[in-house]
Amino acid sequence: MIAINEKIKLAKPFLKWAGGKTQLLNEIEKRLPDGFLTGQITTYVEPFVGGGAAFFYIAQNYPEIKKFCLYDVNSDLVNCYNAVKSDVRSLIKTLNKLELEFLPLKQNSRKEFYLKIRKKFNHEKINDSGVKIAAKLIFLNKTCFNGLYRVNGKDEFNVPFGGYKTPKICDEKNLLAASEVLQKAEIICGDFTKSRKCINKKTFVYLDPPYRPLSATASFTSYSKDSFTEQDQIRLADFCREIEKKGAKFLLSNSDPKNENKEDHFFENNFMEFSICRVKASRMINCKAYGRGQIDELLITN
Ligand SMILES: C[S@@+](CC[C@H](N)C(=O)[O-])C[C@H]1O[C@@H](n2cnc3c(N)ncnc32)[C@H](O)[C@@H]1O
Repeated sequence: MIAINEKIKLAKPFLKWAGGKTQLLNEIEKRLPDGFLTGQITTYVEPFVGGGAAFFYIAQNYPEIKKFCLYDVNSDLVNCYNAVKSDVRSLIKTLNKLELEFLPLKQNSRKEFYLKIRKKFNHEKINDSGVKIAAKLIFLNKTCFNGLYRVNGKDEFNVPFGGYKTPKICDEKNLLAASEVLQKAEIICGDFTKSRKCINKKTFVYLDPPYRPLSATASFTSYSKDSFTEQDQIRLADFCREIEKKGAKFLLSNSDPKNENKEDHFFENNFMEFSICRVKASRMINCKAYGRGQIDELLITN
């Protein structure tokens, strides 16, 4: 097997996204079903695409896969993918303009500029084209604190200014490469269950839902105004059974509750007919000490 760092990775996620899977690509790749190389699997479905680390990797390294169906409930994110796919030149032009206005400013004025764009992003969407909204999202993602995407109960993006010295706002080369890869993909906004229409026995489904919080206080599930609840995790287990019935293969990643509580058997109980294994990963987004070190992450397959 060729090492990950020797494989093609020209296009990479164009947004930093909480829960990004770049560090787990190796483990994901080890668990791809046999049908990936034999031509039996021709479609890749990702119902919680987020930044798309696994999608970009697979789309560039497995030419046997001809069709990619990507879903996410976050409409700003889906709009951004579609702008990169369909109108990347206008997007680059708009983003370049924002970068040229922002970078020469002093830190205080940069913060004011950031807050102005954030306000427009939240309140002027009706007047903006898809490309302009996408450019604002990328700008905010590159200049906000930690590249987070977080919204409040009114669905307003509320991440504070990051204050970085030289953020790369318009990565033209990567946007062009990403646009090319996205030509093979359909990107749809909606709940993960909507992806069922793309799933059949020639499909591989990679599911990376918002994590089941390790503890009541460690939650980072506000990718959208509706958080992903325990009930949604159960709905997801039912969806995995539906995938299995259709004869498709899946891989699901999630947080391991046993990091915090050895007696928490949520996954053993809800995914009992599937194979559950644990791999090490480092967790960045939360403030507890264990949240930054190496913790176990679950990979569930059928
Ligand atoms: C852990 S992130 C995915 C990270 C991604 N694998 C990456 O590498 O960046 C989870 C994603 O699920 C999306 N999401 C949350 N609830 C959803 C739902 N009900 N249906 C579909 N997507 C949902 C969020 O908007 C978020 O982008």
